[in-house]
Amino acid sequence: MRVLITGGAGFIGSHVVETLLTSGHEPVVVDDLSSGLRDNLPASVPLHVIDICDAEGMARVFALVRPDAVCHQAAQLSVSRSVREPAFDARINVVGLLNALDNSLRTGVKRFVFASSGGVLYGDVFEPAAESSHCDPQSPYGISKWAGERYLRYFAAQGNMQTVALRYSNVYGPRQNPHGEAGVVAIFCKKMLRGEQAMINGAGECVRDYVYVTDVAEANRLALELPLPTPFVACNIGTGVPTDVNQLAGELYTSCQAARHSAGQEGVIPAPGHGPARAGDLMSNLVDGRLAHELLGWKPRIQLTEGLGDTVNWFLKMESL
Ligand SMILES: NC(=O)c1ccc[n+]([C@@H]2O[C@H](COP(=O)([O-])OP(=O)(O)OC[C@H]3O[C@@H](n4cnc5c(N)ncnc54)[C@H](O)[C@@H]3O)[C@@H](O)[C@H]2O)c1
Repeated sequence: MRVLITGGAGFIGSHVVETLLTSGHEPVVVDDLSSGLRDNLPASVPLHVIDICDAEGMARVFALVRPDAVCHQAAQLSVSRSVREPAFDARINVVGLLNALDNSLRTGVKRFVFASSGGVLYGDVFEPAAESSHCDPQSPYGISKWAGERYLRYFAAQGNMQTVALRYSNVYGPRQNPHGEAGVVAIFCKKMLRGEQAMINGAGECVRDYVYVTDVAEANRLALELPLPTPFVACNIGTGVPTDVNQLAGELYTSCQAARHSAGQEGVIPAPGHGPARAGDLMSNLVDGRLAHELLGWKPRIQLTEGLGDTVNWFLKMESL
């Protein structure tokens, strides 16, 4: 299957590319490289450097590539930027998505998979939230993801294209950007591996559901390939396992200390400290992955300790390049 992956040079998108290549598919990437990197992609994978908001450029790429399926990962993903610049967020996350959906429907794409977010749709939840839970997004980013899902449902009703929204929990792993506001694993890895103190926002008791990036890539592959019961499906992709920031920082600290030691680096990393709490952070967010298991046969394979260890080793390798 020829699959067009928007945002394919980014963190999650590049893992989707790898998974699809391994399964014998033909991935083609659209990315404006605003945060993605050419180096995240195997040299053999075609990359079209364009903005998904460029309607003519997108129409040209679709006419050229003629994809069988589309995997839409490209987005503006900063919640705080969406608060400061809601129109910028909507331009990429709504208008850009519509360009991809519209071209897909017109060119006969059969399956369209969209990166949605459980965190921003469900808000504060203390038990894993099912897809039927009330969605009440509180930020422009959350609203644009929610609107995106409604558009997916609308487009699925227009023709022969099935659409799938995968509501990710907190994704972590190699290639995550350590410079953004999200991606606490990447941010802590970078700090600790440099022997610097990582700062936890507030008391560190916020609970999240961490899912490893290769598991998320596999969920995308299954959502692209498998028959589905309805034209539109929304499905959580997470572990349902609660981990608070103190526990996460503790595991990473042990793993980074060990990795530095085995790389011959001297000294002890300062223990993580606590800074002021970040306004607007949810106390708890967890998603229930049972529907993904039922519909796609998907289950997370990588446990947190293993995933964190692999992530630390990857960041260590990058630091030494
Ligand atoms: N990382 C997470 O924990 C998480 C959680 C929930 C949902 N998501 C969603 O998953 C998707 C991928 O996120 P990620 O973490 O890999 O982020 P990322 O920033 O690494 O990837 C996004 C990619 O999209 C590209 N892009 C951005 N704007 C573009 C534009 N206008 N035109 C073309 N390309 C553009 C970037 O260059 C980048 O390669 C996003 O839709 C995000 O909202 C991520």
